[in-house]
Amino acid sequence: MRTVRTVAEVRAALAPLRATGAIGLVPTMGAYHEGHLSLFRAARAANATVVASLFVNPTQFLAGEDFGAYPRDEERDAALAAANGVDLLYAPSVEEMYPPGFQTHVEVGEASLPLEGAARPGHFRGVATVCLKLFTALRPDRAYFGQKDAQQVAVLRRLVRDLDLELELVALPTVREADGLALSSRNVYLAPGERQVALALSRALVAGQAAWQATGVTGTATSPTDRAARAEQAARTVLEAEPGLALDYVQVERFDPLSPAVLAGAIRVGRTRLIDNVVLDEGDPQ
Ligand code: PAJ
Repeated sequence: MRTVRTVAEVRAALAPLRATGAIGLVPTMGAYHEGHLSLFRAARAANATVVASLFVNPTQFLAGEDFGAYPRDEERDAALAAANGVDLLYAPSVEEMYPPGFQTHVEVGEASLPLEGAARPGHFRGVATVCLKLFTALRPDRAYFGQKDAQQVAVLRRLVRDLDLELELVALPTVREADGLALSSRNVYLAPGERQVALALSRALVAGQAAWQATGVTGTATSPTDRAARAEQAARTVLEAEPGLALDYVQVERFDPLSPAVLAGAIRVGRTRLIDNVVLDEGDPQ
């Protein structure tokens, strides 16, 4: 595996490979865990060339968030990427991605507004802008994302559709620990006691999903709103029973018609903010 650091280098590296078959891109911010590795392996299985980007994107962190503290270990990440099928690692500097004078951003509309968009204003503008730059610089045939960040996937699906980008966006299921905790680069911030508390989030979402299913077509809910309310209440009950956490939201959302309805939650445990979701139905692929 080679590591390259500039747009010119990554373009030159990909140019001769384009003729050999499809290029799969996995955008990341590093601190790899099984969630990232599952994306690398899926890309490996479906593409002639696999490129991963490794860039802690400052524009998607709000003032006061963990940009400075975000775990960084390029050597470890490069070894994990290579061992899981990545051919090329694109690890640009902040100056390469955002040279002096940079002033163009892309903003996706409604899909960016609720939940994470409301809690972190400007976050999805940063995500959409950096992903669009990666898509145009690298021109992959497929790009791989985790359903763990359901709203991110919805925003990027909209971006690809609205700007006629010629790439297939592939969303893959959330990878979890055996006890249900969704893998996240931010889990390293959790003290052992906090990790135990954090488990309530996945437990709550499973309870909400069960309530959703129980009030389905043959179930007891009187309307879609009622069904969502029951799922949210079932999840909230689990979260409210856990005194060690602060609940940001737990909500049924369809961020965009292209994307599935999810039950999504965000909690804070100590200084760490965690998000997770479960898929409730399928999106409309049209
Ligand atoms: P990062 O948090 O590094 O995540 C990279 C990819 O891994 C994302 O698509 C994310 O959804 C996926 N991922 C994270 N945890 C996962 C899990 N437990 N199971 C499955 N997939 C998981 O998301 C970002 O980086 C950035 O916003 C980025 C898209 C790179 C733009 O900067």
